[in-house]
Amino acid sequence: MKMKSVTLFFLFFLLFEALCCGGCLKEERQALLALNSRVGTAFYSFWELHTDCCEWEGVQCNSSTGRVAQLQLWDSIQQQYINYSDFSGFKDLKNLYLLDGNIVGCVGGEGLPNLELLYISHNRLNTAASIVSCLDGLPSLKSLQLVDNGFNASSFHVFEPLSSMLPNLEVLDISENILTNHILSSLEGFTSLKELYLQETGLDSDVHIKGIGALCSKLRNLELLDLSGNNLNHTDIGSALSGLSSLKSLYLKIYLTIYNRNIVRLDISKLSYLETLNLMGNHLNESKRGIKEIYRFKWPTNLQELWLSQNSLSDQFLSSLSGLSHLDLSHNLLQGLEGALNISGNYIYPLF
Ligand SMILES: *[C@@H]1O[C@H](CO)[C@@H](O)[C@H](O)[C@H]1NC(C)=O
Ligand SMILES: *[C@@H]1O[C@H](CO)[C@@H](O)[C@H](O)[C@H]1NC(C)=O
Ligand SMILES: *[C@@H]1O[C@H](CO)[C@@H](O)[C@H](O)[C@H]1NC(C)=O
Ligand SMILES: *[C@@H]1O[C@H](CO)[C@@H](O)[C@H](O)[C@H]1NC(C)=O
Ligand SMILES: *[C@@H]1O[C@H](CO)[C@@H](O)[C@H](O)[C@H]1NC(C)=O
Ligand SMILES: *[C@@H]1O[C@H](CO)[C@@H](O)[C@H](O)[C@H]1NC(C)=O
Repeated sequence: MKMKSVTLFFLFFLLFEALCCGGCLKEERQALLALNSRVGTAFYSFWELHTDCCEWEGVQCNSSTGRVAQLQLWDSIQQQYINYSDFSGFKDLKNLYLLDGNIVGCVGGEGLPNLELLYISHNRLNTAASIVSCLDGLPSLKSLQLVDNGFNASSFHVFEPLSSMLPNLEVLDISENILTNHILSSLEGFTSLKELYLQETGLDSDVHIKGIGALCSKLRNLELLDLSGNNLNHTDIGSALSGLSSLKSLYLKIYLTIYNRNIVRLDISKLSYLETLNLMGNHLNESKRGIKEIYRFKWPTNLQELWLSQNSLSDQFLSSLSGLSHLDLSHNLLQGLEGALNISGNYIYPLF
């Protein structure tokens, strides 16, 4: 009899443990609830049904410590100023997503010394002061997304001093802000950068486009560069970027970045170190007297992924491709897939 009730008690205890507190620290749960009430409806009310806050929407915990490691707050952020003190209780917080809000700045002096990723795209950090207020006190930051914050040529000078505040930054995305080529020299201090996204930032081939080459020669660790959606109509891409042996991925896609150019004139051959090249949607063509050009033309020798859809290329420039893990040729002027053109050594996507 006694044995039975002990077993029963033990089972009840296990059940209670499972329902109650598994994985979530009490003080972090309380901090989340407090944050929920302060920032508006960012955290859903049904959270309170789950006792384990690691299961809540927008929350991820570190599985070995059980502490909150990632938080995502969506467009329901009602505050204009983020108070970093609200997050200081989360000792293991590494990734913070604050997206689609109306944030104009940050307060809370100490910052978040362990934060590695800050996603603060689609907000209103559009002055130098507002950008600095949110990036001061984040010395461990490795990844920063500042897409579409409405900052412009008068506020981007902030990036020069910022590079010394963020000495470990590896990924920077400032796409969809209206800038000019002058942004390029102000990024030279970010020497740890591995990925730089400058999509639709108003870069223009006519003014100082050499700045791209100059910048990349300073960023010796850069592996990925995204210049899509800028006006590079008249830029000799190959020459501007040649000699950057760390560069593995180059995106020059969509919105007619290099509209209607002869593919040979791009001098892609000079970028022999590239592994991924995305030239989608540029209406690239080739000359009718193509045969001489084919001999001059070489795809980068290390290429593994090639995105060429929505161009005006025919078979002749594609025959020399082999060993690609990804090849997209949709919406071109191909004729002879089963005849002259043998690209069977490539993984082709999507089939067309
Ligand atoms: C979880 O926390 C431990 C101890 O702090 C840390 O070593 C580990 O990198 C963390 N894991 C993740 C995925 O962040
Ligand atoms: C930020 O939050 C802390 C802690 O709740 C509070 O003491 C401080 O006054 C807040 N700062 C601002 C500027 O609201
Ligand atoms: C840049 O943005 C600021 C702040 O939004 C604005 O006041 C200024 O007029 C803008 N300048 C230009 C050149 O667009
Ligand atoms: C590049 O040139 C084409 C044709 O002149 C033009 O339609 C296109 O808008 C230009 N691209 C950009 C980004 O300005
Ligand atoms: C390729 O585009 C250029 C620039 O628009 C044009 O002058 C040329 O005729 C085109 N070549 C072919 C073969 O369509
Ligand atoms: C196409 O090339 C592959 C090797 O890349 C080869 O095995 C195959 O026989 C070739 N097919 C034709 C029809 O030439």
